[in-house]
Parts: sequence; C-alpha cells; structure tokens
Amino acid sequence: MESKEIYKGLAGVPVDYTAVSSVNPESNSLLYRGYPVQELAERCSYEQVALLLWNGELPTDDETAEFARFEREHRALEPQLKSLIDTLPTSAHPMDVVRTAVSVIGASDETTEDNSAEANLVKAKRLFAQLPAVVAYDQRRRHGQEVVTPRDDLDYSQNFLWMAFGEEAAPEVVDAFRVSMVLYAEHSFNASTFTARVIASTTADLYSAVTGAVGALKGALHGGANEAVMHTFAEIGSAENVVPWLDDALANKKKIMGFGHRVYKHGDSRVPTMQAAMERMIAHVGREDMLELYRTLADEFLERKGIYPNLDYPAGPTYHLMGFDTPTFTPLFVAARVTGWTAHVLEQNANNALIRPLSVYNGPEERHL
Ligand code: ACO
Repeated sequence: MESKEIYKGLAGVPVDYTAVSSVNPESNSLLYRGYPVQELAERCSYEQVALLLWNGELPTDDETAEFARFEREHRALEPQLKSLIDTLPTSAHPMDVVRTAVSVIGASDETTEDNSAEANLVKAKRLFAQLPAVVAYDQRRRHGQEVVTPRDDLDYSQNFLWMAFGEEAAPEVVDAFRVSMVLYAEHSFNASTFTARVIASTTADLYSAVTGAVGALKGALHGGANEAVMHTFAEIGSAENVVPWLDDALANKKKIMGFGHRVYKHGDSRVPTMQAAMERMIAHVGREDMLELYRTLADEFLERKGIYPNLDYPAGPTYHLMGFDTPTFTPLFVAARVTGWTAHVLEQNANNALIRPLSVYNGPEERHL
C-alpha cells in the first residue's frame, strides 16, 4: 500500500474557500456573510436571510417586498406534482417524498439545463417557495387530512404552519419556527452542502445538486438526528428515567442523537438561540415536563462524556411541540437548508473545479486470470 496520508471523513481538511458562512469553533460563532446568526435570528425574517445568503448582502425593503411577492406567487404545487406524490405509499419516509418532489420539479422545469447564475437563482427561489407545500402536503396526506391551500396574506413561516395544520399559529409558535429556519439555513461544508457542491462541480443542474443533498441530509449522523432525538425522548419517557436509560445506552456504546459535532467540540453556537425559542414555546404550550427531560439528558450526558448538544437537540422537541409528526422533522430542515445548498451551488458554479479526491488502494496485489 502507498504511504499517502488518509484524511478519513475529510476531517479537518479545507477543500475550498467560501464566502457564504464561517463556522468558528474558537469563538463559538457562526456568521452568515459576516453577520452573527444570533443577530439574524433575532431581527430578520427567514426570507431576508435567504436573500442575504444568495446575494451576499441583506436586502433592501424593496428587494424584500419583491421576493415576498415572488415567494407567495410560487407556493402552490402543480397538480402533476400532487398526483405524482399521491402515487407514493403513505409509508414512504417524508425525506424520500421530498427528494422525489425536488427531482420532479427539476424534470418539469424548462430552464433546468440553463446553468447561468440568473436562471439558478430563480430555481433556488422557486424551490424555497415550493418546499413548504410539499412537506405540508405529505404530512397531511399521511394522516388522511384535507389538503390546505397556501394563503398569500401570510408570511413564509405563518403560511408553512397554516398549510401543515389548517389553522393560524400563535405568534410564539411562528417565532420559534422562523428561528429554526434561520438557524438551519446554512453551515458551510457540512455533508449535504458538500454533496450539493460535488454534484454542481460536474456541471450538473441545480435540481440534481439539491436532490443529492436531500439524500445526504436524511442520515441520522446529519439531518436525520432531529427526528432521532424525538425517538430518544419517546424511549426515555420522562426525566426520572434519564439515568438508567443513559447507563444502558453508554454500556451498549450507543450514539446519543442530537449530541456531538464534527466542528464544534465545545458546544454548537446555534443551540442557545434555538433553546431559548424552544423554552418560549414550552412556556406557551405548558410542557415543562419536556423541558425537564431535555435539560436532564443534556446535563447528564455532558457530565459523563463531555459532549454537548447540537442544533438538532432543541429543534426536535420544538417541532414536536408545534404538532409536526416526527418523520416530518428532517424535511423541515430541508426547507431551511435549501437556501444554503443553493447559495453554495451558485458559489461553486462561479469558480468551479471538479471535486474529485484520491483514494489509496488497499485491495489485492495485481493478479491475472
Ligand atoms: N453519542 C455518543 N458518543 C458520541 C457522540 C454521541 N452523539 N458523538 C460523539 N461521540 C463519541 C464517539 O463515539 C467518539 O468516541 P471514541 O473516540 O471513544 O470512539 C468520539 O465521541 C468522537 O466522535 P466521532 O463520531 O468520531 O466524531 P465525528 O466528528 O466524526 O462525529 C458526529 C460527529 C457524527 C455529529 C457525532 O458526534 C454523532 O454521531 N452525533 C450524533 C448524531 C447527530 O446528532 N448528528 C447531527 C449533527 S449536527 C447537524 O446535522 C445539525
């Protein structure tokens, strides 16, 4: 075997520059185009953050209003897409439905092969507008509920919750949802964004890149962790069961979902903001028992293993308390991260080099038949 160094999982290997966001474990910060994500989560709509990530600057009021018009006009799903989703079994994982929907939207778009930055930005905005309807449609059909059509008097977050539940959400709920979208929107070269960039680097179209990214996000080591957190909570049941549950999990070398991070080793910079939004939701819905379970597991695991929660840990229970069913959690992450993915596709295309790493062969020596 050659004596080349292997960077397993590409851990610690910078593969390109990006101006979209910076993850800084030393200062425990995450900046979108230079702005701390906490400030954006406090002061901006998700729509404004999306424009910041795509364009590099915060939008003016006119640009915000123009995008709001575009987004509202593109919310409704094409009948053809709805009937295609209807052909999928209701047992299909919602991430498979979302992945299929993105692929169908791409196959139905006449501009798919136009890889110019202008055309790709329009595609990114269309996906942004359509994904809430896909996610809400699938959740409702799985529960045998009537489809709720979008309302153009509501903003993105209000309308998403409206389409999912058929009633207007309380301001505390809308706010926690908006915060989750802002925090989930972008995180540099995470596995799904890197997947999108690899696909874009071949000059394939934006929809192919997003379809691949959805696939990468599904896994429990990445976006699937927010769903897995809720399974853990269901298994544990209540705070007093945390210690015996954890004893058993650690004895069996189980990974505790929603904890740990490849980059942050001393806490995920997004957690305090998401946790605060979750706590406001909990105060609103009156589920202090869930907060107790949340805190007990986090404290106990940190004390025993020195491992901190990541964003998925507060996001999972927040989505549960909003009323989303557990398999819908990772599709909600898709609706947020589509912004980051597409900003990265635009960046990759603007300065492209095919992404093609090396491997070190460790199979049998050359042999002959
Ligand atoms: N539960 C138990 N042990 C853990 C956890 C965890 N959640 N996370 C890390 N560890 C342990 C590992 O077992 C390993 O221990 P060892 O050295 O004794 O073998 C050590 O900490 C290092 O962990 P790695 O998995 O090697 O670290 P890596 O940087 O590769 O992994 C990852 C990061 C994949 C996120 C990991 O922490 C994990 O699997 N977490 C659970 C899944 C999860 O929550 N993913 C969401 C990521 S964030 C996001 O997508 C928003």
